[in-house]
Amino acid sequence: MTRLDLDRLDPDRVPLHVGLIMDGNGRWAQSRNLPRTSGHAAGESVLFECVEGALSIGLRWLSAYTFSTENWSRHSEEVSFLMWFNEDILIRRLDSMAEMGVRLHFCGDLADPRIPDRNRKLMQKAEHRTASNDRLHLVLAFNYGGRAEIAAAVRTLTAEVVAGLMSPEEITETTIAERLHIPAMPAPDLIVRTSGEMRVSNFLLWGSAYSELIFVDTLWPDFGAQQLVDAVVEYQHRRRRFGGAETGR
Ligand code: IPE
Ligand code: IPE
Ligand code: MG
Repeated sequence: MTRLDLDRLDPDRVPLHVGLIMDGNGRWAQSRNLPRTSGHAAGESVLFECVEGALSIGLRWLSAYTFSTENWSRHSEEVSFLMWFNEDILIRRLDSMAEMGVRLHFCGDLADPRIPDRNRKLMQKAEHRTASNDRLHLVLAFNYGGRAEIAAAVRTLTAEVVAGLMSPEEITETTIAERLHIPAMPAPDLIVRTSGEMRVSNFLLWGSAYSELIFVDTLWPDFGAQQLVDAVVEYQHRRRRFGGAETGR
Protein backbone atom coordinates (compact mmCIF):
# COMPACT_ATOMS: atom_id res chain seq x y z
CA MET A 1 0.00 0.00 0.00
CA THR A 2 1.31 3.46 -0.86
CA ARG A 3 1.76 5.93 1.99
CA LEU A 4 -1.49 7.47 3.09
CA ASP A 5 -1.97 11.21 3.42
CA LEU A 6 -3.64 11.53 6.83
CA ASP A 7 -3.03 15.29 7.27
CA ARG A 8 -6.67 16.28 6.95
CA LEU A 9 -7.97 13.42 9.07
CA ASP A 10 -9.10 14.16 12.61
CA PRO A 11 -7.86 11.05 14.46
CA ASP A 12 -10.26 11.71 17.34
CA ARG A 13 -13.36 11.61 15.14
CA VAL A 14 -12.87 8.48 13.12
CA PRO A 15 -16.29 6.85 12.56
CA LEU A 16 -16.97 3.55 14.29
CA HIS A 17 -18.29 1.77 11.22
CA VAL A 18 -17.85 2.40 7.50
CA GLY A 19 -19.77 0.37 4.91
CA LEU A 20 -18.52 -0.09 1.36
CA ILE A 21 -20.74 -0.80 -1.64
CA MET A 22 -18.07 -2.03 -4.01
CA ASP A 23 -19.64 -1.36 -7.40
CA GLY A 24 -18.38 -1.01 -10.95
CA ASN A 25 -16.26 -4.14 -11.42
CA GLY A 26 -18.16 -5.20 -14.52
CA ARG A 27 -17.90 -1.78 -16.18
CA TRP A 28 -14.21 -1.59 -15.33
CA ALA A 29 -13.64 -4.89 -17.13
CA GLN A 30 -15.92 -4.12 -20.06
CA SER A 31 -14.13 -0.84 -20.72
CA ARG A 32 -10.96 -2.92 -21.17
CA ASN A 33 -12.66 -5.55 -23.33
CA LEU A 34 -12.20 -8.07 -20.54
CA PRO A 35 -14.80 -10.46 -19.13
CA ARG A 36 -16.77 -9.06 -16.18
CA THR A 37 -15.14 -11.59 -13.86
CA SER A 38 -11.71 -10.04 -14.35
CA GLY A 39 -13.20 -6.86 -12.88
CA HIS A 40 -14.10 -8.79 -9.73
CA ALA A 41 -10.58 -10.20 -9.62
CA ALA A 42 -9.10 -6.71 -9.99
CA GLY A 43 -11.33 -5.42 -7.21
CA GLU A 44 -10.23 -8.00 -4.70
CA SER A 45 -6.90 -6.39 -3.84
CA VAL A 46 -8.65 -3.03 -3.43
CA LEU A 47 -10.76 -4.41 -0.61
CA PHE A 48 -7.68 -5.62 1.22
CA GLU A 49 -5.94 -2.31 0.63
CA CYS A 50 -8.97 -0.69 2.28
CA VAL A 51 -8.63 -3.11 5.20
CA GLU A 52 -5.03 -1.92 5.65
CA GLY A 53 -6.20 1.68 5.36
CA ALA A 54 -8.92 1.04 7.94
CA LEU A 55 -6.33 -0.40 10.32
CA SER A 56 -4.07 2.63 9.77
CA ILE A 57 -6.76 5.10 10.79
CA GLY A 58 -8.09 3.05 13.69
CA LEU A 59 -11.48 2.19 12.22
CA ARG A 60 -13.17 -0.53 14.29
CA TRP A 61 -15.79 -1.85 11.85
CA LEU A 62 -15.55 -2.09 8.06
CA SER A 63 -18.30 -3.82 6.12
CA ALA A 64 -18.19 -4.64 2.43
CA TYR A 65 -20.97 -5.77 0.12
CA THR A 66 -19.59 -8.77 -1.74
CA PHE A 67 -22.73 -10.51 -3.04
CA SER A 68 -26.36 -9.44 -2.79
CA THR A 69 -29.44 -11.67 -2.64
CA GLU A 70 -30.32 -10.16 -6.04
CA ASN A 71 -26.93 -11.01 -7.59
CA TRP A 72 -28.12 -14.62 -8.11
CA SER A 73 -30.01 -13.25 -11.13
CA ARG A 74 -26.73 -12.73 -13.00
CA HIS A 75 -25.43 -15.07 -15.66
CA SER A 76 -24.59 -18.44 -14.10
CA GLU A 77 -20.92 -18.17 -15.07
CA GLU A 78 -20.56 -14.92 -13.16
CA VAL A 79 -22.42 -16.32 -10.14
CA SER A 80 -20.19 -19.43 -10.13
CA PHE A 81 -17.11 -17.25 -10.39
CA LEU A 82 -18.24 -15.13 -7.43
CA MET A 83 -18.95 -18.23 -5.32
CA TRP A 84 -15.57 -19.72 -6.15
CA PHE A 85 -13.92 -16.35 -5.63
CA ASN A 86 -15.30 -16.04 -2.10
CA GLU A 87 -13.62 -19.35 -1.24
CA ASP A 88 -10.41 -18.41 -2.97
CA ILE A 89 -10.17 -15.12 -1.09
CA LEU A 90 -10.62 -16.94 2.20
CA ILE A 91 -7.91 -19.44 1.34
CA ARG A 92 -5.44 -16.78 0.23
CA ARG A 93 -6.16 -13.96 2.67
CA LEU A 94 -7.14 -15.63 5.93
CA ASP A 95 -3.64 -15.94 7.39
CA SER A 96 -2.70 -12.33 6.80
CA MET A 97 -6.09 -11.08 8.05
CA ALA A 98 -5.73 -13.16 11.20
CA GLU A 99 -2.18 -11.89 11.79
CA MET A 100 -3.25 -8.27 11.37
CA GLY A 101 -5.81 -8.67 14.16
CA VAL A 102 -8.84 -8.65 11.89
CA ARG A 103 -11.97 -10.42 13.06
CA LEU A 104 -14.00 -11.72 10.13
CA HIS A 105 -17.78 -11.86 10.10
CA PHE A 106 -20.09 -12.98 7.34
CA CYS A 107 -23.43 -11.25 7.15
CA GLY A 108 -26.16 -12.78 5.03
CA ASP A 109 -28.23 -15.90 4.50
CA LEU A 110 -25.40 -18.39 4.76
CA ALA A 111 -27.76 -21.39 5.05
CA ASP A 112 -28.93 -20.85 1.46
CA PRO A 113 -28.52 -24.21 -0.31
CA ARG A 114 -27.22 -22.43 -3.43
CA ILE A 115 -24.01 -21.63 -1.53
CA PRO A 116 -21.53 -24.48 -2.03
CA ASP A 117 -20.88 -26.41 1.20
CA ARG A 118 -17.13 -25.97 0.95
CA ASN A 119 -17.64 -22.24 0.81
CA ARG A 120 -19.90 -22.29 3.87
CA LYS A 121 -17.35 -24.34 5.82
CA LEU A 122 -14.57 -21.91 4.92
CA MET A 123 -16.66 -18.99 6.13
CA GLN A 124 -17.32 -20.75 9.44
CA LYS A 125 -13.64 -21.61 9.77
CA ALA A 126 -12.60 -18.01 9.07
CA GLU A 127 -15.03 -16.67 11.69
CA HIS A 128 -13.87 -19.22 14.22
CA ARG A 129 -10.17 -18.70 13.54
CA THR A 130 -10.38 -14.92 13.99
CA ALA A 131 -12.98 -14.87 16.79
CA SER A 132 -10.58 -13.56 19.43
CA ASN A 133 -9.24 -10.70 17.26
CA ASP A 134 -10.57 -7.25 17.94
CA ARG A 135 -8.47 -4.67 16.13
CA LEU A 136 -10.85 -4.42 13.19
CA HIS A 137 -14.15 -6.19 12.56
CA LEU A 138 -14.38 -6.92 8.83
CA VAL A 139 -17.92 -7.80 7.83
CA LEU A 140 -18.37 -9.39 4.42
CA ALA A 141 -22.00 -9.05 3.35
CA PHE A 142 -22.35 -12.23 1.34
CA ASN A 143 -25.71 -13.42 0.02
CA TYR A 144 -26.92 -10.37 1.90
CA GLY A 145 -30.17 -8.48 1.40
CA GLY A 146 -31.44 -5.86 3.82
CA ARG A 147 -35.08 -6.79 3.28
CA ALA A 148 -34.35 -10.51 3.69
CA GLU A 149 -32.48 -9.74 6.91
CA ILE A 150 -35.43 -7.80 8.36
CA ALA A 151 -37.87 -10.49 7.20
CA ALA A 152 -35.77 -13.15 8.95
CA ALA A 153 -35.79 -11.09 12.18
CA VAL A 154 -39.59 -10.75 11.94
CA ARG A 155 -39.91 -14.52 11.44
CA THR A 156 -37.80 -15.17 14.54
CA LEU A 157 -39.83 -12.73 16.62
CA THR A 158 -43.12 -14.17 15.39
CA ALA A 159 -42.00 -17.67 16.35
CA GLU A 160 -41.08 -16.38 19.82
CA VAL A 161 -44.50 -14.75 20.23
CA VAL A 162 -46.29 -17.89 19.03
CA ALA A 163 -44.25 -19.96 21.50
CA GLY A 164 -45.33 -17.61 24.29
CA LEU A 165 -41.78 -16.39 24.94
CA MET A 166 -42.61 -12.80 24.14
CA SER A 167 -45.65 -10.54 23.87
CA PRO A 168 -46.34 -8.43 20.74
CA GLU A 169 -45.79 -5.30 22.88
CA GLU A 170 -42.18 -6.37 23.36
CA ILE A 171 -41.50 -6.07 19.63
CA THR A 172 -39.53 -2.85 19.52
CA GLU A 173 -36.68 -1.37 17.51
CA THR A 174 -34.32 -2.88 20.08
CA THR A 175 -35.72 -6.42 19.94
CA ILE A 176 -35.74 -6.33 16.13
CA ALA A 177 -32.12 -5.10 16.04
CA GLU A 178 -31.13 -7.89 18.42
CA ARG A 179 -32.34 -10.43 15.84
CA LEU A 180 -30.47 -9.10 12.82
CA HIS A 181 -27.61 -11.21 11.40
CA ILE A 182 -24.89 -9.58 13.57
CA PRO A 183 -26.56 -7.96 16.59
CA ALA A 184 -23.23 -6.57 17.86
CA MET A 185 -22.53 -4.70 14.62
CA PRO A 186 -23.04 -0.96 15.12
CA ALA A 187 -25.04 1.00 12.54
CA PRO A 188 -22.77 2.28 9.76
CA ASP A 189 -21.88 5.94 10.32
CA LEU A 190 -20.81 6.26 6.70
CA ILE A 191 -21.59 4.27 3.57
CA VAL A 192 -19.41 4.79 0.50
CA ARG A 193 -20.56 3.57 -2.90
CA THR A 194 -18.32 3.57 -5.94
CA SER A 195 -19.15 3.69 -9.67
CA GLY A 196 -21.42 6.75 -9.68
CA GLU A 197 -24.62 4.86 -8.87
CA MET A 198 -26.57 6.69 -6.20
CA ARG A 199 -28.56 4.01 -4.43
CA VAL A 200 -28.15 1.59 -1.56
CA SER A 201 -29.24 -1.57 -3.44
CA ASN A 202 -30.57 -3.35 -0.33
CA PHE A 203 -27.37 -2.86 1.76
CA LEU A 204 -27.71 -2.65 5.58
CA LEU A 205 -31.25 -1.23 5.37
CA TRP A 206 -31.96 -1.23 9.09
CA GLY A 207 -28.63 0.23 10.17
CA SER A 208 -28.41 2.85 7.41
CA ALA A 209 -31.38 4.88 8.71
CA TYR A 210 -29.07 7.77 9.67
CA SER A 211 -25.88 6.84 7.82
CA GLU A 212 -24.03 9.52 5.92
CA LEU A 213 -23.79 8.55 2.24
CA ILE A 214 -20.89 9.31 -0.08
CA PHE A 215 -21.03 8.42 -3.76
CA VAL A 216 -17.87 8.51 -5.84
CA ASP A 217 -17.59 8.06 -9.60
CA THR A 218 -14.49 5.84 -9.38
CA LEU A 219 -15.12 2.23 -10.38
CA TRP A 220 -14.31 -0.17 -7.54
CA PRO A 221 -11.07 -1.62 -9.03
CA ASP A 222 -9.69 1.96 -9.25
CA PHE A 223 -10.66 2.79 -5.65
CA GLY A 224 -8.10 2.59 -2.85
CA ALA A 225 -7.21 3.25 0.74
CA GLN A 226 -6.51 6.94 0.14
CA GLN A 227 -10.01 7.42 -1.25
CA LEU A 228 -11.40 5.66 1.80
CA VAL A 229 -9.48 8.11 4.00
CA ASP A 230 -10.72 11.03 1.85
CA ALA A 231 -14.30 9.81 2.31
CA VAL A 232 -13.78 9.68 6.08
CA VAL A 233 -12.42 13.25 5.98
CA GLU A 234 -15.54 14.34 4.03
CA TYR A 235 -17.67 12.55 6.61
CA GLN A 236 -15.91 14.46 9.38
CA HIS A 237 -17.20 17.71 7.84
CA ARG A 238 -20.80 16.54 7.77
CA ARG A 239 -23.23 17.59 10.49
CA ARG A 240 -25.26 14.66 11.70
CA ARG A 241 -28.51 15.75 13.26
CA PHE A 242 -30.46 12.51 13.75
CA GLY A 243 -33.68 14.46 13.40
CA GLY A 244 -32.70 17.09 15.95
CA ALA A 245 -32.34 20.82 15.29
CA GLU A 246 -29.01 22.55 14.77
CA THR A 247 -29.78 25.72 16.69
CA GLY A 248 -32.06 26.66 19.57
CA ARG A 249 -35.79 27.53 19.19
C1 IPE B 1 -19.92 -4.97 -8.03
O1 IPE B 1 -19.60 -4.77 -9.35
C2 IPE B 1 -19.55 -6.34 -7.55
C3 IPE B 1 -20.68 -7.26 -7.36
C4 IPE B 1 -21.94 -6.95 -7.48
C5 IPE B 1 -20.33 -8.62 -6.98
P1 IPE B 1 -20.63 -5.08 -10.50
O2 IPE B 1 -20.42 -6.48 -10.96
O3 IPE B 1 -22.00 -4.77 -10.08
O4 IPE B 1 -20.16 -4.09 -11.63
P2 IPE B 1 -21.07 -3.22 -12.59
O5 IPE B 1 -21.97 -2.41 -11.70
O6 IPE B 1 -21.84 -4.17 -13.45
O7 IPE B 1 -20.12 -2.38 -13.36
C1 IPE C 1 -24.71 -3.91 -5.22
O1 IPE C 1 -24.32 -3.71 -6.52
C2 IPE C 1 -24.25 -5.25 -4.73
C3 IPE C 1 -22.82 -5.39 -4.49
C4 IPE C 1 -21.95 -4.44 -4.57
C5 IPE C 1 -22.39 -6.71 -4.08
P1 IPE C 1 -25.25 -4.12 -7.75
O2 IPE C 1 -24.45 -3.80 -8.96
O3 IPE C 1 -25.72 -5.51 -7.61
O4 IPE C 1 -26.49 -3.13 -7.59
P2 IPE C 1 -27.46 -2.49 -8.69
O5 IPE C 1 -28.01 -3.63 -9.49
O6 IPE C 1 -26.64 -1.58 -9.53
O7 IPE C 1 -28.49 -1.75 -7.90
MG1 MG D 1 -23.11 -3.09 -10.16
